[in-house]
Amino acid sequence: MAINKVMVIGAGQMGSGIAQVCAQAGFDVLLNDMNAEALDKGMKNIEKLLTRAVEKERISETNKANTLNRLTPSKDLQDAQSVDLVIEAIVENMEVKSNVFGELDQIAPKHAILATNTSSLPITEIAAKTTRPDQVIGMHYMNPVPVMKLVEIIRGLQTSDETYQAIEDMTHKLSKTPVEVNDAPGFAANRILMPMINEAIFALQEGVASVEDIDTVMKLGMNHPMGPLTLADFIGLDTCLYIMEVLHDGYGDSKYRPCPLLRKYVNAGWLGKKSGRGFYQY
Ligand code: NAI
Repeated sequence: MAINKVMVIGAGQMGSGIAQVCAQAGFDVLLNDMNAEALDKGMKNIEKLLTRAVEKERISETNKANTLNRLTPSKDLQDAQSVDLVIEAIVENMEVKSNVFGELDQIAPKHAILATNTSSLPITEIAAKTTRPDQVIGMHYMNPVPVMKLVEIIRGLQTSDETYQAIEDMTHKLSKTPVEVNDAPGFAANRILMPMINEAIFALQEGVASVEDIDTVMKLGMNHPMGPLTLADFIGLDTCLYIMEVLHDGYGDSKYRPCPLLRKYVNAGWLGKKSGRGFYQY
């Protein structure tokens, strides 16, 4: 199936990055957000990142101009009627995502693939909200999208081989590396990453070491480019908590219980970099 026109829904940190890499790779992109301010911020953020890439001589001025020309802001979900692929990157909440997929199923052309960038929610359940579960798939990008090479492609129970192949081909066109994963709580990336972050927070809570020292252990000791507490702040502590809850509910295993200190920070509104305070101050 040929994919030419893409709609990205959600212009937040993930959606704006996804829209940028799709436009840079030559796809026509509609970036949609129901919040006008968030849409404006997302569009400006893309322009800022492209300007920085020109300054660093990673892309040309022409490349930047062409990328911006391929990007169109959208406030109306009805715009999905002209696209071949939708990539949803809105809030990590099953009810909200389900409603959007139900609407998209009515609006998008019959051939269109509906993909979600969910970090942890079951693809099979999202797909069941549509009349085209064979054309629903997980396309899980990593943060920050323009930098990170991996895309986890998650097959729901009913995802067709044709849908999988179209998304794998597109991932290659974005110069990213696809990994095929089956639908299971946390998929592969967050099943492995989040318990590590959660354990780092337990270590902090129990006074095993300071924030900085825990991060230093993992950076210098394990060669991680970023410590787990810094990474948690970048991902968003609310997102981390949400994913731990999905793992805990999904597997029913106490080893996935979210650390109380993580919950406390989220309740305090300390969500990491995006709120100005998490394990570090920004
Ligand atoms: P964000 O909070 O930065 O952005 C979400 C955007 O969606 C907001 O601008 C909001 O206005 C918009 N939105 C919410 N409901 C909408 C609707 N019904 N229609 C249109 N727009 C709507 O969130 P972020 O971090 O970009 O995450 C988005 C998704 O990506 C989530 O599912 C998250 O789990 C996933 N994800 C997040 C990663 C991260 O590191 N933050 C990494 C990989 C996946």
